[in-house]
Amino acid sequence: MAAADQPDAIALLKADHRKVEGLFERFEAAKGKSEKEALARQICTELTVHTIIEEEIFYPACKGKTEEDLLDESYVEHDGAKVLIAEIEAGGPDEEFYAAKVKVLSEQIEHHVGEEEKPAEGLFAQARKAGLDMNALGQLLAARKQELLAQIKSQGLPTPETRTFQGAEVERGEPLDASSSEPSQDETRPGAR
Ligand SMILES: [Fe+2]
Ligand SMILES: [Fe+2]
Repeated sequence: MAAADQPDAIALLKADHRKVEGLFERFEAAKGKSEKEALARQICTELTVHTIIEEEIFYPACKGKTEEDLLDESYVEHDGAKVLIAEIEAGGPDEEFYAAKVKVLSEQIEHHVGEEEKPAEGLFAQARKAGLDMNALGQLLAARKQELLAQIKSQGLPTPETRTFQGAEVERGEPLDASSSEPSQDETRPGAR
């Protein structure tokens, strides 16, 4: 049995979701650059820890007990978020698309949280219905979370690790403002002709 003050797995994960939603709201409302940067860093930390504990503990426990497609999509959604987290971590509030990246990350997370928490059909509801031991999982999640937070405090945020993305290369194109002027003949994309 879980200790009286220990939330079960779903309560813990939902509390994480509410916390990060609050941070996104504060980021939107923040005026100062240093405040925005501090909030973005906190968002990235929270999401990094949350995705790791779900991927190491909660999702594997769901495997074979919840809809396969939904679980697969959860991993891919995490990987998508990690790309933006890495971009935000590498950037700063002076960068042109910094706020846009945080906004898009918040929208991706909103969708993902919706899939996890959707009543009856969501991943959490399916896991509950399948009879997973939420108290035992809650203890594992909480312990790993503490460990990761301590690690981040001493060593900084780790580089995100994707689990489904294959690391396909992307080219870095011209910065947007440089390419927004009238394209010359040889700058026209071949596919556009
Ligand atoms: Fe989650
Ligand atoms: Fe998740």
